[in-house]
Amino acid sequence: MSVAKDSMKTDLDVTALRQDFPILHQEVHGKSLAYLDNAATSQKPTAVIEAINAYYRQDNANVHRGVHQLSERATRAYEGARDKLAAFLGAGDERSVVFTRGNTEAINLVAQSWGHNNIGAGDEILITHMEHHSNIVPWQLLCEQTGAKLKVAPINDRGELVMDEFSKLLNTRTKLVGVVHVSNALGTVNPVEEIVKLAHANGSKVLVDGAQATPHMAVNIAALNADFYTIAGHKMFGPTGIGALIAPTALLDEMPPWQGGGDMIRMVTFEKSMFAPVPTKFEAGTPSIAEAIGLGATVDYLENVGMDNIAAWEADLLAYGTERLSQVEGLRFIGTASEKASVISFVLDGVHPHDIGTIVDQHGVAIRTGHHCAMPVMDFFQVPATARASFAFYNTREEIDRLAIALDDCKRMLG
Ligand code: ALA
Repeated sequence: MSVAKDSMKTDLDVTALRQDFPILHQEVHGKSLAYLDNAATSQKPTAVIEAINAYYRQDNANVHRGVHQLSERATRAYEGARDKLAAFLGAGDERSVVFTRGNTEAINLVAQSWGHNNIGAGDEILITHMEHHSNIVPWQLLCEQTGAKLKVAPINDRGELVMDEFSKLLNTRTKLVGVVHVSNALGTVNPVEEIVKLAHANGSKVLVDGAQATPHMAVNIAALNADFYTIAGHKMFGPTGIGALIAPTALLDEMPPWQGGGDMIRMVTFEKSMFAPVPTKFEAGTPSIAEAIGLGATVDYLENVGMDNIAAWEADLLAYGTERLSQVEGLRFIGTASEKASVISFVLDGVHPHDIGTIVDQHGVAIRTGHHCAMPVMDFFQVPATARASFAFYNTREEIDRLAIALDDCKRMLG
């Protein structure tokens, strides 16, 4: 574990930090790997890999069920991870944290549990044009099931939410606002505090999809005052198969269970079941135990590095990357919001994004190409797909230079 080298906030000792990530030290096509696909999934530090390893080697047992030593250890580690995550995200009460299999499951939980209890025919759900499919499709399904209507707040050509239009779309029928904190396809950081205030003044609940925010910045959910906040472990240097819904316990208490099964009950007969208190009520079946424990280790790791240090380092990468890539002939940025996380989407004249991805891979540079599970964003910008470089705190300016050189190569070969 390596932390900030000195008091300069931007001066992370990234060379040392990179040693914490074993996967980064390999060659791809004979070149050292430059992993710039962190918005798709981020890499895992040794501390996280070892926490999972240690659980399986020493403590593997089911949680909340056994009185034997291993089950007690597993339960302590699983619940300890919940406590850590609650503190890390400013959730206050650890019972506010419901573990899910991922960000998508957390949003579906809200749609199917809170949504079915609170949304009916004629009601409206307001989302934005820059949502990931995971914050569109669950609401479409709910609308089909209930007769509610999905409304979409527009974005401008920089990829920013048009706040005036958003405000105009809020009305007495708007039961829920669903908004992404940081857009995976554009990098836009939305003004979620303002959105929450406007929605609450209108009497609407707010769900903030935080999957792409927690890897990049300090998030305090209590300060944000969102009703529902969702996260993905694997986007924030933790394992796949684990995410969370964070919501006030009073709100969770009112919501019916979504999935039924073991652990989420207090008592079961064939006539009737009674449910466990939150958050267990929403964690049916054996949960992702190792993954939750791994996420707890991730939180320890990130706290040591410091989210403010990470944000400052990535701000430099974003500024440098934007400047450096703007020198590539024929490159056009898709998403130029004034508030951005370290995500750069672009197209290159005359070169299909998938060809870009293949050619830069030959240089050992990993980026994502495609629609990024945000097809409406592609439609808005009238492109079939983009290429996207997404940075984490272990990336460097030198890796961005390598991407730029690889893009020059694409242009030479195909442009
Ligand atoms: N949502 C992920 C991405 O942005 C998969 O790449």
